[in-house]
Amino acid sequence: MSELAAKTVPPNLSSLRRALTERLQNAGIEDASMDVQHILQAVFKDGPDGSWPDPDLCPTRAQLEHLEAIAARRETSEPLPHILGHWGFWSLDLNINSDVLTPRPDTERLVEIALETIPAGPLKILDLGTGSGAILLALLSERPQATGIGLDLSKAALNIADMNAKQVLSDNRAVFIEGQWDAALAQGPFDLVVSNPPYINSQTVETLAPEVCRYEPKLALDGGADGLDAYRAILPLLKHYQKPGGHFLFEIGADQGPAVLALAKTRKEFGQIRLWQDYGQRDRVLSGCLI
Ligand SMILES: C[S@@+](CC[C@H](N)C(=O)[O-])C[C@H]1O[C@@H](n2cnc3c(N)ncnc32)[C@H](O)[C@@H]1O
Repeated sequence: MSELAAKTVPPNLSSLRRALTERLQNAGIEDASMDVQHILQAVFKDGPDGSWPDPDLCPTRAQLEHLEAIAARRETSEPLPHILGHWGFWSLDLNINSDVLTPRPDTERLVEIALETIPAGPLKILDLGTGSGAILLALLSERPQATGIGLDLSKAALNIADMNAKQVLSDNRAVFIEGQWDAALAQGPFDLVVSNPPYINSQTVETLAPEVCRYEPKLALDGGADGLDAYRAILPLLKHYQKPGGHFLFEIGADQGPAVLALAKTRKEFGQIRLWQDYGQRDRVLSGCLI
């Protein structure tokens, strides 16, 4: 009998929730109760109507084995999105694996600001470092007349992005290109350029939680000695990528606002350069437009 089943006789959903939360807390998992909610949802709320079973209901053997398999992997710090194979971003449920950064709620702020910034109607969007396609697909899902290109250096990431596009969109409005930051120059100009590039400084990457530094792609995290390499590379490209009046939005680290703002202000081709804060009042997005 599985470890989870053995702890409570007979187990029901409520007792399993308590036992699993305690088990993950003991394994050092931060926010264990949130993880448990996702795990129970994956195992028990999988029916066609998406409803929760009665909390007093006793799970089947197959459900207990499924739960045990997930718990055993999560105890080793493997990220839950990798175990489940999918994760929510904006209104979308995206395929996720170790080839892509798991999209973060922080990045939804960039999507929100982009939607406030761009007009409705036909638009061409470029997403630099698209990873799972999260930002591009969220924007295209909200703007049915827009088309977009997602660029990434990682072919493996683009395979996931392409799979997500097929799942999210009923048409071919998203196209993916493999290459360095300048690889989509021939496809421009664009009305909107968005990017959540790697922006963690190289030394810090190794000190991040095991879920991140052991399991997420270094290419998605490491922004060089001061974390700003990608902004230095991308900013000079924007005048070639954008239409006059076109906007750009970058996600930034919470402590990078002044540095990224200063970098953008060295370029004379931009106007309306500004920082945007998240709901905790931390700088999280830089935006501007091509004059
Ligand atoms: C922080 S992740 C962002 C992923 C996704 N856009 C998101 O917000 O969840 C950065 C992405 O940039 C890509 N990348 C890193 N260096 C690159 C480069 N030189 N040229 C193109 N893409 C790059 C990585 O492969 C990774 O997918």
